[in-house]
Amino acid sequence: MGSQWSKDGPYRKAVREGYRSRAAYKLLEIQERYSIIRDDDNVVDLGCAPGSWLQVVTEHTHGMVLGVDLQIIAPVEGARIIVGDISDPHLKEIVTDLLGIVNIVLCDASPNLSGQSSYDQARAIGLGEDALNFAREVLKTGGNMVIKSFQGEDFHDLLVKIKRYFYSVKTFKTKATRKGSREIYIIAKNFCGKEGCT
Ligand SMILES: C[S@@+](CC[C@H](N)C(=O)[O-])C[C@H]1O[C@@H](n2cnc3c(N)ncnc32)[C@H](O)[C@@H]1O
Repeated sequence: MGSQWSKDGPYRKAVREGYRSRAAYKLLEIQERYSIIRDDDNVVDLGCAPGSWLQVVTEHTHGMVLGVDLQIIAPVEGARIIVGDISDPHLKEIVTDLLGIVNIVLCDASPNLSGQSSYDQARAIGLGEDALNFAREVLKTGGNMVIKSFQGEDFHDLLVKIKRYFYSVKTFKTKATRKGSREIYIIAKNFCGKEGCT
């Protein structure tokens, strides 16, 4: 990630301000606009490496913060980090054992790109579905979720699925996202419960 972004201004700004990547500004924009994280929330951050969202989260809550990624990362003060896969059906037990209550699930995970766009799109949508399934198992009623996704095939279907489980669902393109990117964030607030909204 560092080498790809090392020459751009936003990356240099992130380093200057103590963030591990410019992705921090995406969550800061989301938080400023949608007030996703409240100051006593317990938060799970799926796909947390290299850790800039964890840095932002710990600035916004005194609750417990847990990061999950396929990769090992350096510690982030105020957060616990585990190596894990979003699609692992046992992840929910591990997370609830560690946190008890989960108020917020964030997912900024993206697959390694193969260059084959319909395959990459399908994997990205699959990650979003895994994150939703995880959230359905662990999230407290009334909790919030943010999922990174990509506009294209099956994006609409993912959005429809998410709308079944949250009272409020919006999409948001951050200013920090590169121009021309299909990246988009789904902001889902007020979880209805595992069985969905009635
Ligand atoms: C764009 S980076 C996340 C950046 C992070 N939000 C930050 O601010 O530092 C995407 C991450 O998703 C992780 N990832 C992809 N698939 C995953 C999976 N199945 N389970 C857990 N993490 C995954 C990758 O390892 C990668 O570190």
